[in-house]
Amino acid sequence: MEIFKTAAAIQGFALEQKRGGKRIGLVPTMGYLHEGHLSLVRRARELADVVIVSIFVNPTQFGPTEDLAKYPRDFERDCRLCAEHGVTAVFAPTPEAMYYPDHSVWVVEEQLSQGLCGARRPGHFRGVATVVAKLFNLTQPDVAVFGQKDAQQALVIRRMVRDLNFPIRIEVAPLVRDGDGLALSSRNRYLSEEERKRALVLSRSLWAAQAALRERKLEALDGVLAAIRYEIEQAGGRVDYVEGLDSETLQPPTAGTRKLLLLLAAYFGNTRLIDNQVVEL
Ligand code: PAF
Repeated sequence: MEIFKTAAAIQGFALEQKRGGKRIGLVPTMGYLHEGHLSLVRRARELADVVIVSIFVNPTQFGPTEDLAKYPRDFERDCRLCAEHGVTAVFAPTPEAMYYPDHSVWVVEEQLSQGLCGARRPGHFRGVATVVAKLFNLTQPDVAVFGQKDAQQALVIRRMVRDLNFPIRIEVAPLVRDGDGLALSSRNRYLSEEERKRALVLSRSLWAAQAALRERKLEALDGVLAAIRYEIEQAGGRVDYVEGLDSETLQPPTAGTRKLLLLLAAYFGNTRLIDNQVVEL
């Protein structure tokens, strides 16, 4: 497995692979890899000849009061896991290698990124879309694999690819949970044992909501969302948002909505967790 640290080196590698007729699969990550990331790598290996994993804690998607400095990092372990899982190349630039000191061009999505995490984390999706566009240009993927865990992010990226005509297939792989139901996230490591137990209310309440909505359909939605909020608070969490939206538009569901997306964000201690569940109506 090769490790590249500069934009020029990874782009040269990617262009050479393309000239050799290889299909490139990209898995963009911020490192501290877990089983969720590895499921994306496995999917990329099914879809491409060459798999590039980017490991970059992207400063432009963190707000000034967020956890950029303490975001978990373990580059050696990440590289070992990538090598064990058949990754062809890791791209791990420094912020200086990714951004010119006077960089001034951004990619801004203006619909899907407005609510939910976009409303709570101003500038977050501008940073995500910009870095992902740069990663696409640097790694020249035929396919890029994202996780359903970050459902809003996946929709924003799909829209960017559509609207800016990137010739890239966006594959969204299922959310991966631990045995106890907690959605896998690099941020889970911040949770104390007690907070982690309390946080299981997230998946539990989403599953209960899914069952209720399947039975009673959209008319039950307001009650279901209120029940999720109540259960999170009862478990000692602090609700950031709980919403039920059309899974394609992220707008309130209408009679035409076929899939509803239940999305939530909540704090346990200082740790902000997100989770979601698709409900077929
Ligand atoms: O999902 C993530 O880890 C990040 O938002 C991404 C897509 C790697 C961009 O920095």
